[in-house]
Amino acid sequence: MMHAIQEELGFVPHEAMQRIADALNWSRADVHGVLTYYHDFRTAPPGCHVLKLCRAESCQAMGSEQLEAHVANKHGAAMGETSADGELTVEPIYCLGNCALSPAVQLDGKVHGRVSSQRLDALLLQAKEQKTNGTGS
Ligand code: FES
Repeated sequence: MMHAIQEELGFVPHEAMQRIADALNWSRADVHGVLTYYHDFRTAPPGCHVLKLCRAESCQAMGSEQLEAHVANKHGAAMGETSADGELTVEPIYCLGNCALSPAVQLDGKVHGRVSSQRLDALLLQAKEQKTNGTGS
Protein backbone atom coordinates (compact mmCIF):
# COMPACT_ATOMS: atom_id res chain seq x y z
CA MET A 1 0.00 0.00 0.00
CA MET A 2 2.78 2.40 0.93
CA HIS A 3 4.76 1.45 -2.17
CA ALA A 4 1.72 2.14 -4.36
CA ILE A 5 1.18 5.56 -2.80
CA GLN A 6 4.85 6.46 -3.16
CA GLU A 7 4.91 5.26 -6.76
CA GLU A 8 1.92 7.46 -7.54
CA LEU A 9 2.91 10.58 -5.58
CA GLY A 10 6.67 10.20 -5.13
CA PHE A 11 6.21 10.11 -1.35
CA VAL A 12 3.81 8.98 1.36
CA PRO A 13 2.13 12.07 2.83
CA HIS A 14 1.65 12.32 6.58
CA GLU A 15 -2.07 12.70 5.90
CA ALA A 16 -2.13 9.17 4.47
CA MET A 17 -0.80 7.53 7.63
CA GLN A 18 -4.11 7.34 9.47
CA ARG A 19 -5.90 5.97 6.40
CA ILE A 20 -3.23 3.30 5.97
CA ALA A 21 -3.43 2.46 9.67
CA ASP A 22 -7.21 2.14 9.48
CA ALA A 23 -7.08 -0.03 6.36
CA LEU A 24 -4.54 -2.41 7.92
CA ASN A 25 -5.95 -2.28 11.43
CA TRP A 26 -2.59 -0.95 12.62
CA SER A 27 -1.83 1.96 14.88
CA ARG A 28 -0.63 5.19 13.31
CA ALA A 29 2.63 4.61 15.21
CA ASP A 30 3.07 1.25 13.40
CA VAL A 31 2.67 2.96 10.03
CA HIS A 32 5.07 5.72 11.04
CA GLY A 33 7.55 3.08 12.20
CA VAL A 34 7.53 1.32 8.83
CA LEU A 35 7.77 4.57 6.87
CA THR A 36 10.74 5.82 8.84
CA TYR A 37 12.55 2.46 9.14
CA TYR A 38 12.91 1.82 5.42
CA HIS A 39 15.15 4.29 3.59
CA ASP A 40 13.22 3.95 0.35
CA PHE A 41 10.10 5.59 1.74
CA ARG A 42 9.79 9.37 1.67
CA THR A 43 7.36 11.47 3.67
CA ALA A 44 7.98 14.63 1.65
CA PRO A 45 7.96 15.24 -2.11
CA PRO A 46 11.33 14.60 -3.78
CA GLY A 47 13.13 17.04 -6.04
CA CYS A 48 12.98 16.84 -9.83
CA HIS A 49 15.91 14.42 -9.76
CA VAL A 50 16.71 11.81 -7.13
CA LEU A 51 20.33 10.89 -6.55
CA LYS A 52 21.05 7.88 -4.38
CA LEU A 53 24.63 7.77 -3.17
CA CYS A 54 25.94 4.38 -2.13
CA ARG A 55 27.30 4.43 1.40
CA ALA A 56 28.26 0.78 1.71
CA GLU A 57 31.83 -0.38 2.31
CA SER A 58 33.22 -0.65 -1.21
CA CYS A 59 31.91 2.75 -2.26
CA GLN A 60 33.10 4.34 0.98
CA ALA A 61 36.57 2.96 0.33
CA MET A 62 36.49 4.44 -3.17
CA GLY A 63 35.38 7.96 -2.28
CA SER A 64 31.62 8.13 -1.80
CA GLU A 65 32.04 10.51 1.15
CA GLN A 66 33.89 12.95 -1.11
CA LEU A 67 31.04 12.69 -3.63
CA GLU A 68 28.56 13.41 -0.87
CA ALA A 69 30.50 16.51 0.18
CA HIS A 70 30.77 17.63 -3.45
CA VAL A 71 27.03 17.32 -4.02
CA ALA A 72 26.29 19.25 -0.84
CA ASN A 73 28.75 22.04 -1.69
CA LYS A 74 28.16 22.38 -5.41
CA HIS A 75 24.52 21.34 -5.81
CA GLY A 76 23.13 22.45 -2.47
CA ALA A 77 21.65 19.14 -1.37
CA ALA A 78 23.10 17.37 1.65
CA MET A 79 22.37 13.72 2.32
CA GLY A 80 18.68 13.23 3.02
CA GLU A 81 17.77 16.68 1.76
CA THR A 82 16.39 18.40 -1.31
CA SER A 83 18.12 21.45 -2.78
CA ALA A 84 16.42 24.80 -2.16
CA ASP A 85 15.53 25.07 -5.86
CA GLY A 86 13.75 21.72 -5.72
CA GLU A 87 16.00 20.27 -8.43
CA LEU A 88 17.80 17.53 -6.52
CA THR A 89 17.11 15.13 -3.68
CA VAL A 90 20.03 13.14 -2.28
CA GLU A 91 19.35 9.89 -0.48
CA PRO A 92 21.57 7.14 0.94
CA ILE A 93 21.55 3.62 -0.41
CA TYR A 94 23.47 0.64 0.89
CA CYS A 95 25.00 -1.24 -2.03
CA LEU A 96 23.69 -1.06 -5.54
CA GLY A 97 25.29 -4.40 -6.47
CA ASN A 98 27.84 -2.46 -8.48
CA CYS A 99 30.77 -2.72 -6.06
CA ALA A 100 33.32 -3.54 -8.78
CA LEU A 101 32.64 -0.08 -10.21
CA SER A 102 32.68 1.88 -6.96
CA PRO A 103 31.85 4.53 -6.17
CA ALA A 104 28.38 3.95 -7.54
CA VAL A 105 25.30 6.15 -7.64
CA GLN A 106 21.76 5.84 -8.87
CA LEU A 107 20.34 8.89 -10.62
CA ASP A 108 16.63 8.84 -11.42
CA GLY A 109 16.65 5.07 -11.22
CA LYS A 110 19.70 4.45 -13.39
CA VAL A 111 22.91 3.06 -11.87
CA HIS A 112 26.29 4.60 -12.74
CA GLY A 113 29.72 3.34 -11.69
CA ARG A 114 33.17 4.83 -11.16
CA VAL A 115 31.59 8.20 -10.55
CA SER A 116 33.96 11.09 -9.93
CA SER A 117 32.83 14.57 -8.92
CA GLN A 118 33.27 15.72 -12.53
CA ARG A 119 31.29 12.77 -13.89
CA LEU A 120 28.55 13.36 -11.37
CA ASP A 121 28.32 17.02 -12.45
CA ALA A 122 28.01 15.84 -16.06
CA LEU A 123 25.32 13.29 -15.17
CA LEU A 124 23.31 15.89 -13.28
CA LEU A 125 23.63 18.39 -16.13
CA GLN A 126 22.55 15.76 -18.62
CA ALA A 127 19.54 14.84 -16.48
CA LYS A 128 18.48 18.49 -16.24
CA GLU A 129 18.90 18.99 -19.99
CA GLN A 130 16.88 15.87 -20.75
CA LYS A 131 14.09 17.14 -18.54
CA THR A 132 14.24 20.59 -20.16
CA ASN A 133 14.14 19.03 -23.63
CA GLY A 134 11.43 16.59 -22.62
CA THR A 135 13.59 13.60 -23.47
CA GLY A 136 14.04 12.34 -19.91
CA SER A 137 12.07 9.59 -18.25
S1 FES B 1 29.16 -0.92 -2.00
FE1 FES B 1 28.42 0.55 -3.39
S2 FES B 1 27.65 -0.65 -5.01
FE2 FES B 1 28.23 -2.11 -3.53
